[in-house]
Amino acid sequence: MAQAKKLFIKTYGCQMNVYDSERMAEALGASGYVGTDRAEDADMILLNTCHIREKAAEKVYSELGRFKPLKAANPDLKIGVAGCVAQAEGEEIMRRAPLVDLVVGPQTYHRLPAMVAAVRAGERAVDTDFPEEDKFAHLPKGPRASRGPTAFLTVQEGCDKFCSFCVVPYTRGAEVSRPAARILAEARELVDRGVREITLLGQNVNAYHGEGPAGEWSLAQLIDALAGIAGLERIRFTTSHPNDMREDLIAAFASQPKLMPYLHLPVQSGSDRILKRMNRKHTAESYVAIIDRLREARPDLALSGDFIVGFPGETEADFEDTMALVRRVGYGQAYSFKYSARPGTPAAEREDTVPEDVASERLARLQALLTEQQRAAQEAMVGRTVAVLFEKPGRMPGQMVGKSDHLHAVHVTDPRATPGTIADVRITASAPNSLAGELV
Ligand code: 5AD
Ligand code: SF4
Repeated sequence: MAQAKKLFIKTYGCQMNVYDSERMAEALGASGYVGTDRAEDADMILLNTCHIREKAAEKVYSELGRFKPLKAANPDLKIGVAGCVAQAEGEEIMRRAPLVDLVVGPQTYHRLPAMVAAVRAGERAVDTDFPEEDKFAHLPKGPRASRGPTAFLTVQEGCDKFCSFCVVPYTRGAEVSRPAARILAEARELVDRGVREITLLGQNVNAYHGEGPAGEWSLAQLIDALAGIAGLERIRFTTSHPNDMREDLIAAFASQPKLMPYLHLPVQSGSDRILKRMNRKHTAESYVAIIDRLREARPDLALSGDFIVGFPGETEADFEDTMALVRRVGYGQAYSFKYSARPGTPAAEREDTVPEDVASERLARLQALLTEQQRAAQEAMVGRTVAVLFEKPGRMPGQMVGKSDHLHAVHVTDPRATPGTIADVRITASAPNSLAGELV
């Protein structure tokens, strides 16, 4: 038998890209590729790219430049660009980077094996269509990578919200929910392979409305059905839009014990004036009202969010509104970004841009507040007993690390802690990015 061909994938951006990369590796596994984590050894290199913020395309070109010597050394090496930059700039990449053999957008991954075969026969291939079919149903299944006890599962993709700053509706396309039966089958497969925690993924995951056995299912209905799978212990979902936070989903935080008390609910800004310009279609007050209802349902709920500072037209008073909202809500964790104009989005046309130094200074203030909240939330765990799903050995000998239900990294040194088990841990100390504890 010929030697197996080697595939190196580098993934940028969000968790959906991580999931997509796994599925692409699996699909190419069916064509005889085995994974490698050394680009130097690869017969095929795939960059799975992200377009969400600053200089995404430039990063791709400079990364491609680094592969030039590899291609010179191995003329059979094939190089592909996948993901959201591929979607946004496919033809341009082909023109600017002659060493690229293949460009594939996020909605055509099921065509990848055929494209790779064409590329191996000496062609260059581009596919950035938005086909109707469910790519996941059409992806061939290869040998599945061995994995830990946690996994991502894409249930919904794309976005119809058109926030004025965001490229996602253009790169990932219109909102599509996968049928519930397919998701349940995939979840059962994951659980059979030892997965104990599944994070349901979607750019607008709480807008999920997939085909169920009788009519459409909401995300809450899907979660309830998933919770019925024996061996699946924990369910999470990300990312959500405040306007799709339906009553049944809020209620699930009270009624469904397998749904973890952690929610990523981006608000972007605390100023109604800016929210309107962002086309968010909610106010600061309506967001806070949802948080209040969620906390009523699940008092120990930990919250996470996304923030953009320096959106065009943002004044000091607007920014202060964001700071006030953060103080009011109290986040366990959060992501904050300087606004970056994305070509093709409505906000990129605005001329009332905020000077770079002003945006940087605001970002620093916001991050100081968020970091302080994160530290306090973590510190508050010391002395408490939390359930931890152990995932893998830690850096120290004998150490095992896992995640608490609030998604804190927790490590213990105890031979009874093994990957895939959930155990109660008494937290003894808090470090900047993790907690230490002892099994009880
Ligand atoms: N500039 C800065 N941040 C952005 N995000 C999305 N688009 C932009 C942009 N143009 C942030 C938002 C979103 C997260 C995934 O990335 O906060 O929730
Ligand atoms: Fe990046 Fe958004 Fe595409 Fe994910 S969906 S890869 S965050 S642009």
